[in-house]
Amino acid sequence: MPQIALNFEDGITRFIDADESESIADAAYRHSINVPLDCANGVCGTCKAFRQSGECDRGSPSEGALSEAEAVEGYILCCQTRAKSDLVIDILASSEACKVKPKQTICEVVDLESLSEHRIRLSVRSREGGLPMFLPGQYANITAPDEGVSRPYSFTSAPGSDVATFLIRNLPNGRMSLFLKAKVKRGERLLLDGPFGNFYLRTPTRPMLFIAAGTGVGPFLSMLGCLAMTGSRDQVVRLIYGTRDPADLVELERIEALRALLPNFSYVTTCSNPASQHQLSGRVTDYMSAEALNYGDVDVYLCGPPEMVESGRRHAAKYGSPPANIYFENFAPAATLYQVTNEQNLRSDDCGRRRVSDTSSAARP
Ligand SMILES: Cc1cc2nc3c(=O)[nH]c(=O)nc-3n(C[C@H](O)[C@H](O)[C@H](O)COP(=O)(O)OP(=O)(O)OC[C@H]3O[C@@H](n4cnc5c(N)ncnc54)[C@H](O)[C@@H]3O)c2cc1C
Ligand code: FES
Repeated sequence: MPQIALNFEDGITRFIDADESESIADAAYRHSINVPLDCANGVCGTCKAFRQSGECDRGSPSEGALSEAEAVEGYILCCQTRAKSDLVIDILASSEACKVKPKQTICEVVDLESLSEHRIRLSVRSREGGLPMFLPGQYANITAPDEGVSRPYSFTSAPGSDVATFLIRNLPNGRMSLFLKAKVKRGERLLLDGPFGNFYLRTPTRPMLFIAAGTGVGPFLSMLGCLAMTGSRDQVVRLIYGTRDPADLVELERIEALRALLPNFSYVTTCSNPASQHQLSGRVTDYMSAEALNYGDVDVYLCGPPEMVESGRRHAAKYGSPPANIYFENFAPAATLYQVTNEQNLRSDDCGRRRVSDTSSAARP
């Protein structure tokens, strides 16, 4: 049965399965998700949504509900459309409006490895059923219930794995960092909320350039793993991966293993510390040349600290990449997110819980 990822306006994603004979709206209702609906007959346009990827039968919408131009752009009517393959659909409403219930998975720590002084690899598995499905590039909020701390972390494993992995920066005096380093043991209970976020791999239609700073390489491991698994092995992808110091250039064995599977994947690493002896020096953005950006004909994905992401977006725009082809995720510190949630008068119990996808982007054509 095709799987449909429903992305809501507030960055929450839910996966549903859909029989090829039922509409997306019917499949959503069967999963207790009330997508906007009125006439259920292709006439009013209330259920309009945007198809990010996948094949579908659009049924017979009336011109008043969905114009031909909108259909060409990628819009669909959920009450009319049937899935012919896995789909990613943007629902033009919040998850709250659609009465999507929060999904929390109780997990346990399988492994915790120090990859360098500043990098931790956390592996968890579900204690009850499976892990949530997610799109490669998305993140989950991980909560240590006894510690009262929650932080967003991007999956580095590919969707569908039994064990989810995360690459975590170990910050001196960071609340989650201290907890992971000092207290976590195998079998420790953690809560996983998600998936969230609009930073995920789109259907490849042109070469891709991945720009990663620090632990921002994490979501790219998931994306590359997905490309290797799903028959897009010939996709042209270049990764530029930077850290301050060479010791923090971690997960290179994983990247090498992916390179062996993806013939058109290449990568370079660079270190910004002027004292480092690394072969390439400088920031990742120093290597975003016109050629690397394929003179604008490229999908650019950026992930890392907000300053790098901002500077990378400017570089990409300078060389002609349209904003619609630039996707990014800011690894904003929890303190910043706390400020954002306060401003929005949302619940902000422990300064890390994040429900609003305010710092990630996925431009719609
Ligand atoms: C959508 C999203 C996905 C994320 N995914 C990842 C991921 O996959 N891996 C990962 O390592 N991080 C990721 N982060 C960042 C992560 O959620 C935490 O903010 C980070 O790990 C610090 O948590 P902490 O509790 O250890 O430190 P905190 O207790 O939050 O912070 C301790 C001190 O360090 C400062 N600080 C916090 N973060 C930074 C920073 N980045 N640079 C400089 N100073 C900082 C704080 O202001 C504070 O003074 C993500 C953030 C977002 C928003
Ligand atoms: S609900 Fe009216 S067009 Fe779908």
